[in-house]
Amino acid sequence: MQNKPSIGKPISRLEGHLKVTGSAKYAGEYDAPDLLYGYVVNSTIAKGKIRSIDTAEIKKLSGVIEVFTHENKPSTAWFDFQYADMDAPPGKVFKPLNDNEIKYNGQPIALVVAETFEMARYAATKIKVIYEKEDFETDLQANIGKARDPKKGLASMLKPPPPKPTGDFEKEYENSFVKTDGKFTHGTEHHNPMEMYATTVIYEGKDKLKIYDKTQGTINSQMYVANVFGLKMKNVQVISPFVGGAFGSGLRPQHQLFMAVMASLALKRNVRVTLDRAQMYMIGHRPPTLQHTKFGADANGKVNAIYHKATGETSRFEDYVEIVVNWANMLYPAENTLLEHEIVPLDVYSPIDMRAPGGSTGMHAIEVTMDEIAYQLNIDPLQLRLINYSEIDKSSDKEYSSKELKECYLKGAKKFGWDQRNHEPRSMKRGNKLIGYGMATGIWDANRILGRAEAIMYSDGKVEIKSAVTDIGTGTLTIMSQIAADELGLPIDYIKFSYADSKMPFAPIQGGSFTTATIGSAVQNACKSLNKKLFKKAQGLKDSVLKDAKLKDVVFKDGFIILKNNPQIKINVQDILAANGGKLIKTTNSAMPNPLTYGKKARAVHSAVFVEVEVDEQLGVIEVTRALTAVAAGKIINPKTAESQVLGGMIWGISKALHEETILDHRLGKYMNANLAEYHIPVHADINDLQVLFIEEKDEFVNDLGVKGVGEIGGIGMPPAITNAIFHATGKRIYELPIHFDRLI
Ligand code: MOS
Repeated sequence: MQNKPSIGKPISRLEGHLKVTGSAKYAGEYDAPDLLYGYVVNSTIAKGKIRSIDTAEIKKLSGVIEVFTHENKPSTAWFDFQYADMDAPPGKVFKPLNDNEIKYNGQPIALVVAETFEMARYAATKIKVIYEKEDFETDLQANIGKARDPKKGLASMLKPPPPKPTGDFEKEYENSFVKTDGKFTHGTEHHNPMEMYATTVIYEGKDKLKIYDKTQGTINSQMYVANVFGLKMKNVQVISPFVGGAFGSGLRPQHQLFMAVMASLALKRNVRVTLDRAQMYMIGHRPPTLQHTKFGADANGKVNAIYHKATGETSRFEDYVEIVVNWANMLYPAENTLLEHEIVPLDVYSPIDMRAPGGSTGMHAIEVTMDEIAYQLNIDPLQLRLINYSEIDKSSDKEYSSKELKECYLKGAKKFGWDQRNHEPRSMKRGNKLIGYGMATGIWDANRILGRAEAIMYSDGKVEIKSAVTDIGTGTLTIMSQIAADELGLPIDYIKFSYADSKMPFAPIQGGSFTTATIGSAVQNACKSLNKKLFKKAQGLKDSVLKDAKLKDVVFKDGFIILKNNPQIKINVQDILAANGGKLIKTTNSAMPNPLTYGKKARAVHSAVFVEVEVDEQLGVIEVTRALTAVAAGKIINPKTAESQVLGGMIWGISKALHEETILDHRLGKYMNANLAEYHIPVHADINDLQVLFIEEKDEFVNDLGVKGVGEIGGIGMPPAITNAIFHATGKRIYELPIHFDRLI
């Protein structure tokens, strides 16, 4: 066994073959005997009451088993604490079929259960509902006067409110040489993963369920089901090995889970509920947001005053927030700041985190504002970022645990060819098209929380690692295997990573770009414990050559425990296993940041984004012809899956800047383009040359692995870089996303 380190290798996804051959099973694909199918019925009004809901006729249809509404919903235990799941914002969690009240358009109001999906869906069209309509408000702009501070709650731990004002913004701004004043508008977006939300519940007897659920957190779904239905945690197993994209929409249990469990318990049958594409627009969204920035800078470009206010949408029942305005002062060390975030409760469903929630919104406004300063002063936009470069996070006055953003700027600019840019707007052309170069900065948190993992070595020397964590398509399975392999000194094919089962050791929801740091550290610790056990057993062997050695004096490599300063002295792990009498060796361990020291430094992942656009002025067509993102995210465990994460984010950045938006008709309170034909996203032909450059960054503070997470950073700098490139190409400053060609006319 000759084993090279696995960390740092661009290993292809270990489950890739299963996925491309169609053998990976998703939540809605599990077979079960006599499976019943549920189809959700959604309200067609935005607000009011159900006066009557007539299900008698459809109950007579052949194949229809039952119709659940608020009138006959089996009783639930509804944990009356406000947090029914790990990601619930402050407020009252939405309870499907709770009463006759309609709170938003598309609200689930019934579940038709039938012997086939088609029958359930057909019967659902025949349900007769009479509503009592009430007035509603869904327009953020029109209701801006009702904006208020959000309530704080548990989820605020990872979503800190804006820092307190510093210095004297008004005075400094008034006296600034350069003043900007920009109002930004962002529309609603929906996650639209390829895989629809689905839950298959296997009824295993009274009060005992095995649940295949589409989720970003198996234990989160387990907690929700146990709390809501009053079941014992141990009797609820949630399994979710493959997730066809979620992007945040699976951070909270979705209502198909509630529906499927409710029906299964009531009917004592196996039940599946799958949402269809239109229903995917009724499970949460990135909220529309209004922003106002006013930055003041001196004649040299130094930003000394920062005002950034965001007003986001929320539902009437929960105070959803994002981190929109906290970023500017983390990057640019102004002494005078005023940062505010308000929300407007409207008659919509609660927004839910969407990839880089708040970061992709706030950084757009911040980085476009920086571009404006650069143009007012005739300074190169990259130069302006360097003039305002800070080694500390001014908003907390803390040092960064590591920050290689300057290298991102410099190496990224070089590779992109930023020096080929002529600063003058409308000065670069290719044929009859205007060319624009734009750049922007990206920043996102580098967090970690508590995670657990188990390591089991079998008698043949192979190792199974277990954690309840999901792999939402990011490569978690692969990189956890790499981390375990290196910690144990084994080839990666000796490792089996078992995951996405709530019966396994604790993992939080997979999100916030914290999974590698959180679960990777837990896997590392579980492997360290296993090594320790092996070492003890090695010392206990008859005439052990390591009898007098200490754990810190040995390395675990190529299946041996080797004395560091005399590699001739070693013990074969196989000999330990042979002496262990065929028994397995098992350890479980946790990892969490040290609460006493973790907050002492600022922790963030950074990027510098460079974009070239081509604008056809006659046709108004905007094309991102090439883009480069340079990322500093600590240690990169797997350059291939990490690059994939950043590329996906970049494509989404193009989509956010140029394509996607859910349109709400405020007369109906309803999303009008709830389908993939009218909800625009980029197709293959919209995507050209994209490059990712990882900048080396050593960080011993964030965690022992030195990893920060790359799940969200890829999407953050793209929208402003594209907006700035469009300004450079056309001389038009556009403050609204998405930028459709009509805005250029
Ligand atoms: Mo991410 S929006 O935390 O899945």
